[in-house]
Amino acid sequence: MAGAVKEAVRWEIRHERPGDAPLVDALNAASFGPGRYAKSAYRLREGVHAVAELSFVAVEAGAFRGSVRFWPVIVGAEKVLLLGPLAVQSDLRGRGIGIALMNKGIEAAKAAGYGAIILVGDEPYYARVGFAKLPPGRIAFPGPVDRARVLGLSLKPDALANLSGNIRRAEIDDPVCADGAGLG
Ligand SMILES: CC(C)(COP(=O)(O)OP(=O)(O)OC[C@H]1O[C@@H](n2cnc3c(N)ncnc32)[C@H](O)[C@@H]1OP(=O)(O)O)[C@@H](O)C(=O)NCCC(=O)NCCS
Repeated sequence: MAGAVKEAVRWEIRHERPGDAPLVDALNAASFGPGRYAKSAYRLREGVHAVAELSFVAVEAGAFRGSVRFWPVIVGAEKVLLLGPLAVQSDLRGRGIGIALMNKGIEAAKAAGYGAIILVGDEPYYARVGFAKLPPGRIAFPGPVDRARVLGLSLKPDALANLSGNIRRAEIDDPVCADGAGLG
């Protein structure tokens, strides 16, 4: 039929591959700007690799559209996940890609046996996949953070109920220090 509307290509969510990293880095730079490195959440990612099996990208007709990564952190004595960065290409937002990326990551985190995910972000958006505000001050970040934006999602019953204390990196993959001597 002349003038028929062609069905929009749908994206797929797949694991991030090594070749995707430059695209992910460029998208995060464009989405969050240089100020991202000053954020408390970045202190928790310094020298630590994202959890490979929980890093996903959205791809549509072979083209990169968005990304989500998760980092391992410890809160008090519990190993949990820190969600983010999550970003979608600016001209392709509002089509459900962000939610699809998160749902894939949450599903994989649950299957991998993690108990909870936390993040710093906008509650109205993340509530769409089940996140809720944590009681202000329950988690102490290594720097300033808007306490109303600290959110959590339980993947196991009551996983957030007793989660409290300082948040820190769960491991250090690339130790560095200012004088380049390494941490020994
Ligand atoms: C946030 C982001 C990942 C959402 O990606 P997306 O693919 O557009 O998201 P979806 O299409 O799945 O969801 C879009 C819906 O969420 C809403 N939404 C997006 N960001 C929101 C926010 N910060 N607060 C409340 N609602 C938000 C949109 O208005 C839209 O609502 P609608 O479905 O009623 O139209 C994307 O906007 C982005 O990359 N932003 C820049 C980076 C960023 O801020 N990341 C989050 C860090 S906290």
